[in-house]
Amino acid sequence: MKILITGGAGFIGSNFIRYIFKKHPDYKIINFDKLTYAGNLENLKDVEDNPDYKFVKGDICDKKIVDEVISEKPDAIINFAAESHVDRSISDPHSFLKTDMQGVITLLEIAKKYNIKRFIQISTDEVYGSINETSCAEKHPLNPSNPYSASKAAADLMVHSYFVTYKMPVLTVRSSNNFGPYQYPEKIIPLFITNLLEDKKVPLYGDGLNIRDWLYVLDNCEAIDLILDKGKEGEVYNVGGGNEKTNLEITRLILREMGKDESYIDYVEDRLGHDRRYSLDSSKIKETLGWQPKYNFEQSLKKTIQWYRNNEWWWKKIKSGEYLEYYKKQYETGYKTQKRIS
Ligand code: NAD
Ligand code: TYD
Repeated sequence: MKILITGGAGFIGSNFIRYIFKKHPDYKIINFDKLTYAGNLENLKDVEDNPDYKFVKGDICDKKIVDEVISEKPDAIINFAAESHVDRSISDPHSFLKTDMQGVITLLEIAKKYNIKRFIQISTDEVYGSINETSCAEKHPLNPSNPYSASKAAADLMVHSYFVTYKMPVLTVRSSNNFGPYQYPEKIIPLFITNLLEDKKVPLYGDGLNIRDWLYVLDNCEAIDLILDKGKEGEVYNVGGGNEKTNLEITRLILREMGKDESYIDYVEDRLGHDRRYSLDSSKIKETLGWQPKYNFEQSLKKTIQWYRNNEWWWKKIKSGEYLEYYKKQYETGYKTQKRIS
């Protein structure tokens, strides 16, 4: 099986690539990534010399290079590429609409041209918007409330339209908030851990009582692999961790594990349009594909804290801006992009 993974240099994509090589040593992977601020080839140092792995730098909105890479006829495309941070979408909505929506149409069009047999769109629980009670199953109306989730919802509708109109073999995965190693330190868990490692305070938005459902990234990787293998064309699958926590609860768990007291909490102004609660009903993937999250939340959070403690080399460069200077220069000159895998 040869898979084209877009956005594979980001958090979930890089964990997925590592997961796939471990689980299916015979698979081949092309990782196509623009290397935005969030794309980091250091996430994949341990796989870059694998003869079955190839990296291509490119933008999913760029028809020419997308055509070149899809002309290699992968058996499947999994689109992880996105602008992914809600706060950035509030200050720069255009880049979100471009990548998260137009980029997806570019991929769909070219996948259609080459008759690609499986296209998986990585979406998010945020497309359902905030829900006060109960949980959202796949048929729940989309009700996004910020530029990030609105762009992702637009892409989901477009993906569905390619199934109905062109009978394209598309599938959509909507997961809840992921956490784990290699997550860019702007999202709440890695930001708070790395701030505390630097003995800085953690900025908690509003009253800290907004709720997210947390999923360890390897549970998500397993779900996506299962959907790749057994998911039904045209379907949407929710993937939730079943760990709903307020941000204050998460903060307290991190503080306790890191030996800090509540004076390290800095209650700051709330995020604009801040969704109060996300909650997924994941019965469908459990009942039809037999998926279950395996990782215990508190143990995985401890493991994640330990990972950031042990890997200062990874996040310190990102926080200081040194990473962008060094690595991006190398890839701008085309280094390591020419390897072919068949
Ligand atoms: P991330 O920001 O860590 O990584 C995104 C990757 O996409 C980066 O490597 C970046 O360089 C690349 N990219 C961005 N624009 C691109 C473009 N135009 N062309 C090619 N590559 C581009 O994001 P993540 O947290 O790994 O999320 C991956 C996917 O999962 C996204 O689609 C996101 O919407 C979805 N998702 C994330 C979460 C989460 O909690 N992180 C939860 C649910 C869904
Ligand atoms: P985030 O990690 O940005 O993920 P998302 O917005 O996709 O859910 O935020 C998770 C929650 O944490 C969200 O309710 C906003 C809150 N938050 C803070 O309180 N402080 C912060 O510095 C950040 C980044 C997020």
